[in-house]
Amino acid sequence: MSATSVIGLQWGDEAKGKVVDLLTNDHDIVVRYLGGNNAGHTVKFDGETYKLSLMPAGILNNRVTSVLAPGVVINPKAFLEELDAIELRRGSADGRLLISDRAHVIFPYHREEERISENLRKADAIGTTMRGIGPCYRDKIGRTQAIRIGDMYYPDLFRQKLETVVAEKLTVFKALDPEAKLPTASEIFEEYMQYAERLRPYVTDTSAFLHRQLKANKRILFEGAQGALLDVDHGTFPFVTSSNSSGCGVHSGSGVSERLIDRMIGVVKAYTTRVGAGPFPTELLDDTGNHIRERGHEYGTVTGRPRRCGWFDAVATAYGGRVSGVDCVTLALLDVLDELDEIKICEAYEIDGQRTTDFPSHIAAIAKAKPIYRTMPGWKTDITGVRTVDGLPAKARNYVKAITDLMEVPVTMISVGPDREQTIFCD
Ligand code: GDP
Ligand code: IMO
Ligand code: MG
Repeated sequence: MSATSVIGLQWGDEAKGKVVDLLTNDHDIVVRYLGGNNAGHTVKFDGETYKLSLMPAGILNNRVTSVLAPGVVINPKAFLEELDAIELRRGSADGRLLISDRAHVIFPYHREEERISENLRKADAIGTTMRGIGPCYRDKIGRTQAIRIGDMYYPDLFRQKLETVVAEKLTVFKALDPEAKLPTASEIFEEYMQYAERLRPYVTDTSAFLHRQLKANKRILFEGAQGALLDVDHGTFPFVTSSNSSGCGVHSGSGVSERLIDRMIGVVKAYTTRVGAGPFPTELLDDTGNHIRERGHEYGTVTGRPRRCGWFDAVATAYGGRVSGVDCVTLALLDVLDELDEIKICEAYEIDGQRTTDFPSHIAAIAKAKPIYRTMPGWKTDITGVRTVDGLPAKARNYVKAITDLMEVPVTMISVGPDREQTIFCD
C-alpha cells in the first residue's frame, strides 16, 4: 500500500503539474480531490505542452487511472471539452477515468452569482477565476441548493430541484442586480441531461474504488490544486479559494484517510507568485518583479492574468508546509533566478515593531508585515542543464540550503526547467 500527496505551499502555480507528472510513472492512480477548473496545471509530456484544468495529470499516461474525487466541483461542459481535447491528442480515456457521484456540479447560476458578487465588491473583489467555484462550494456547505453528480441520474428529482433552486437564485440575483440573467430551469435541465449521459460511463463511487485499490497494493498519487495559502481555513482569508487547498484537504476531499498516505510532498517556487487580490508581503512592484514575471512566464494558465511576483517568503511558505504536514519539499523554477545579481529571502516579518516568524491570521496584520530579508548573492549562471546537486553553482546550493533551513524539511527535488529531465534529485 502506498500513497503520495503533492501539495502547493504558496498561492498556487508552484509547478504541481510537473511534479505530479514526474511521479506518475511510479503510481497507478492519480486523484484530484479539490477545486475545479480554476486550476491550471501545465505539463510537458512527450515533448508537448498540456494545460490541464479539471483533469488529473495522470490522464496523459495510458497506464494510469485518473480520478475526480468527492471534493472536486465539476463543470460538466468544461470537463467534456477538456476530455475531448485530450482524447484527440492522446487517444481514448475510456476505462481509466472516474468521477465521484458525490462531487458537486457547477451550473450557469454559479457563474452569474460570482459575477454579481465580484462586481458588487469592486475594489475589494477577491479576483477569482470567475468559474463559479466559490458559489458552488457555498451551495455545498449551505446544503439546501446543492446538486451533486449523482443527483443527475434521478431525473424527476433533478428537475424539481433545479426548478426550486433557479427560482430562488433568480429572486436574489434580481434584487442585487436588475440586469441578472439566467437560463430557465428547463433549459438547464435539458442541457445537463445531455452532459449526464456522456458522463455516465465515468461516474462511480470513487471512495469505494480507491479503498479497493489500496487493498490491492496499488499506488495512489494525490494531485493538489491551488496552494496552502489559498486554503479557506488556513490561508489569507478571505482572499482564498473556497476549499481546503492545503494538505488538510486530502482526506476530506478524497475519502482516503491521511493515515494511509506515506509521503506528503510540498511544492514551492524559488520565489513567490500570486494571482488575484490579497496581501503579499514580499511582492516586487519594480524591475526585478517584472524580470521574474517575464523569465518565469508568470501569466495565469486559466485567466491569462499577469501573476504578481515577489521574493521567497519563508514565513508564509513554512507556515503552508506546517499546516499541510509535508515531510519534504520540491523546489521549482530555481532557474528563473539565474540572472539576478542578488536574491532575497524573507525570513521574518516586522509587525508593529515586533519581529515574528508566525504567519498572522488577519489580512490587516499581513498587509502591514514588513519583510525582514536575508540577502544572498545570485549565481549568474544558466542552471537549466544541471542534473546533480554538485553541478549547481555554490551560490545556488547556498540558496537551496537557506530554504531547507527555513522550511525545516529537506528539499529532495529541485526543478530547473519545465521538462521532466530538468530535475535534480537530492539524495
Ligand atoms: P501548477 O498550477 O502548480 O501545476 O503550476 P502551473 O502549471 O500553473 O505553473 C508552473 C509553470 O512553470 C508551468 O508553465 C510549467 O511548465 C513551468 N515550470 C515548471 N517547472 C519549472 C521550472 O523548474 N523552471 C521553469 N522555468 N519553468 C517551470
Ligand atoms: P493551481 O491549481 C493560482 C486564486 C484566484 C483567486 C482565488 C479565488 O493552478 O495552482 P477561485 O476562482 O478559486 O474562487 O479564486 O484563488 N486561484 C489560484 N491561483 N493557482 C490556482 O490553481 C488557483 N486557483 C484559484 O486567482 O485569487
Ligand atoms: Mg496553475
